[in-house]
Amino acid sequence: MKAIIVHGGAGRWGEERLKHALPVLKEAAEVGYSLLDEDPVKAVEEAVKVLEDSPYFNAGKGSVLSIDGSLEMDACIVRDNPRLVGAVIGVRRVKNPISLARIIAERTSHHVMYGEGAERIARLFNLPEGNLITDYARRRLERVREKLLKEEVGDDLSLMAKTIDLIRKYPDLFIGTVGAVATDGRSVVAGTSTGGTSVKLPGRVGDTPIPGAGTWAENGCGASATGIGEGIIQMLLTKTLCDRVAYGTPLKEAAEELVRRTEYPVGVIALRRNGEVVFAYNTDFMPVALKTEEKKEVEVYGVQGKSSRT
Ligand code: GLY
Repeated sequence: MKAIIVHGGAGRWGEERLKHALPVLKEAAEVGYSLLDEDPVKAVEEAVKVLEDSPYFNAGKGSVLSIDGSLEMDACIVRDNPRLVGAVIGVRRVKNPISLARIIAERTSHHVMYGEGAERIARLFNLPEGNLITDYARRRLERVREKLLKEEVGDDLSLMAKTIDLIRKYPDLFIGTVGAVATDGRSVVAGTSTGGTSVKLPGRVGDTPIPGAGTWAENGCGASATGIGEGIIQMLLTKTLCDRVAYGTPLKEAAEELVRRTEYPVGVIALRRNGEVVFAYNTDFMPVALKTEEKKEVEVYGVQGKSSRT
């Protein structure tokens, strides 16, 4: 059974941004679905590219900035069978980090590359570069800095504690990450792309490019996570989800239980080779769009407060 589900990031979405983001999310699902017969890896790559090219998502062009104003983007793509794993960490100029993750998976002997070395591979394969720092991202960083400065910051540890407090209080500032999971009924592919979290220190790596944390596919199951990466890394959320399903836990139960147990704001989309699709999140919103063989229209969920569905 063919299916694709895409997400635009767990968090608290404002009405205006959601209005702009939803048509793009639907387009991503349509574009991905239309490529499923050709190649599910391409389907996921192209769906994620649609979101990376939009300024309304925290990935590619809309990426949030590190606390020093720099841009560091991560992406990962995984296919269950035949096994394919590619991830890129901390690239600054590559317009579509998901395409670089795919090149690393298919054209190098490595699974994960970072920084300048990864950028060199991007140039070798003529991937487009772009100015990806938007005015919105700059303004958002200023808001975060102001909030941080208002807190009394003592030593390094209290800075981290306050950062976590801030994340909990203002999840809308940390909205993040895009992802897609698709199946053509034979293999399952998951892809995720992000600018990271707003108050990250330069050099911080989140869950997205860590295979098994933010992105995974195995044994006919695939998942892409969103939210505060530290919480997702602690659970190795997407790998744990696929393992649980392999050992017999229903997809919906596995997704909901893992999200519930995470102490951070997070969400996950997942599907199985048989076309079963799920999403779960503990934030106010997590816009998702899905298209399956059963329905002609793209369905949209996660835009009216907390819920989950199979
Ligand atoms: N989930 C994206 C990040 O924490 O970097």
